[in-house]
Amino acid sequence: MADEKKPRFELKPVERRTFLRYSLLGSVGAGLGGFGLASLGFLYPRTGDCLFGEAGWLGAGLGGFGLASLGMLWPRLGDGLFGEVALGSAEDLYDEITSERSPRRFPDGGISVITWDATSSSAMRAYGEEHAIFPDGERGLQAINTQSCPHLGCGVPWCQTSQWFECPCHGSRYNRYGEWTGGPAPRGLDRYVSFIDDDGQFVVDLGEGLTGPARTANALEQSPEGPSCVDA
Ligand code: FES
Repeated sequence: MADEKKPRFELKPVERRTFLRYSLLGSVGAGLGGFGLASLGFLYPRTGDCLFGEAGWLGAGLGGFGLASLGMLWPRLGDGLFGEVALGSAEDLYDEITSERSPRRFPDGGISVITWDATSSSAMRAYGEEHAIFPDGERGLQAINTQSCPHLGCGVPWCQTSQWFECPCHGSRYNRYGEWTGGPAPRGLDRYVSFIDDDGQFVVDLGEGLTGPARTANALEQSPEGPSCVDA
């Protein structure tokens, strides 16, 4: 059962500002290191002359270039979070999402947390295995990837009036469960494995992405509840 799974470790969500600060420091540090190595390589033939000569200069220069490149790339390599991430109290999330009638979005991970009904046999068949279910066996949470539309990768915002996710790029639409309801997307929105741990935290495993449900999946059977936010 998903709710019996325990996290191997718990990562606190990282503030974007904090993350960028360390990334910048890492970049500057690696860049300075590279510059130092390149300078050393430049000086070495004059002081030691015969030990490495031009080959040493070239090697140190390349090493410096590599370090500097790594420093520039580092923020991108680390731009996502990996592994199991606790997103807060599952009960609080559930209450917030139901009272506001809106998924809770976590921008850094491109995740929208939704509620789902574990008493529905069709929803249970489609989602019971890999998504969080409360101990009452009735309520559930899911972590939907709304950062990347399965069509061509646009972000997919929530439309409060229709109560659907609606892609502004080419008009693909998805119901409240992220199931495909129209447009060129080949399937429903992708998602992540999630569970509720022993402390009642909603935990998302960002290392375990799940391909969205097929177009034919329609466990929710939800019609739009108001005007669309995008043009058809
Ligand atoms: S990218 Fe979303 S419909 Fe094309």
